[in-house]
Amino acid sequence: MNPNQALWEKGDFTRIAASMRASGEELVGTLGITPGAKVLDLGCGDGTTAVPAAKRGADVLGVDIARNLVDAGNRRARELGLANLRFQQGDASDLADLASRTFDLVISIFGAMFAPKPFDVAKEMVRVTRTGGRIVMGNWIPNDPTLVAQILKISAAYSPPPPEGFVSPMTWGVESQVVERFTAAGVPGDRIAFARNTYTFAYPAPPAELLAAFRAYYGPTMNAFEAAERDGRAAELAKELNEPFVAQNRSPRADETSIPATFLRVTVSV
Ligand SMILES: C[S@@+](CC[C@H](N)C(=O)[O-])C[C@H]1O[C@@H](n2cnc3c(N)ncnc32)[C@H](O)[C@@H]1O
Repeated sequence: MNPNQALWEKGDFTRIAASMRASGEELVGTLGITPGAKVLDLGCGDGTTAVPAAKRGADVLGVDIARNLVDAGNRRARELGLANLRFQQGDASDLADLASRTFDLVISIFGAMFAPKPFDVAKEMVRVTRTGGRIVMGNWIPNDPTLVAQILKISAAYSPPPPEGFVSPMTWGVESQVVERFTAAGVPGDRIAFARNTYTFAYPAPPAELLAAFRAYYGPTMNAFEAAERDGRAAELAKELNEPFVAQNRSPRADETSIPATFLRVTVSV
């Protein structure tokens, strides 16, 4: 199986996404979505941003490489009675099923950054956006001191080396690389804007339990623990990961976790 798909089908990202719903709602609230707008959410997971976009009356398609998350998203849409929201499987680097110039807004929050072939991803996002439409990406930032960049950095250090030619997803958090990818897709540089925003991981249990959820359900962390167990380094990895979870927790309550994480928000006017 495609290793990118296998990575995300391995665990159950819905268990992590549950801690990201409030920030997803908040972000969608800043996008100026109007009823009837055609929205594509790429690498949508089970709909943390697709659901609030549909609740605003947009006609939303969620596309994700992981079949378990597509199924989970369609279940949520059904349960919420959102007939204007559907999910289908697809790869952000090849959206062959989608017609050109279709969407008013293409969102990808920590989604398309994980697809291989970043230049193809930028080209596909631009292709399916209508002229006058927008692309909004949320990308984790390499070496940022906040939670997810640290999880991914620590996990990578314990994981087997990636295959030859692998481009790190974190390069989507570097402005110059983002500009290079979208200009190669035909967008002038002055139509690409950047901002730093925050997502907060809110979990109804102590930080160690949120870390346990990452260990059990988040593909990149699961792979790191598997490799660390083979090398007899699992305890070392757990200790190293525990540090940012504890140090960055802002909740005053012992039975709750609230960890803010910084990301690069990219807005492209097509
Ligand atoms: C960190 S999760 C974020 C999910 C969702 N956007 C959210 O905010 O909850 C990354 C998502 O990207 C999806 N993904 C990874 N590679 C992809 C690809 N090539 N094409 C489409 N989706 C992909 C994964 O399956 C996963 O759902």
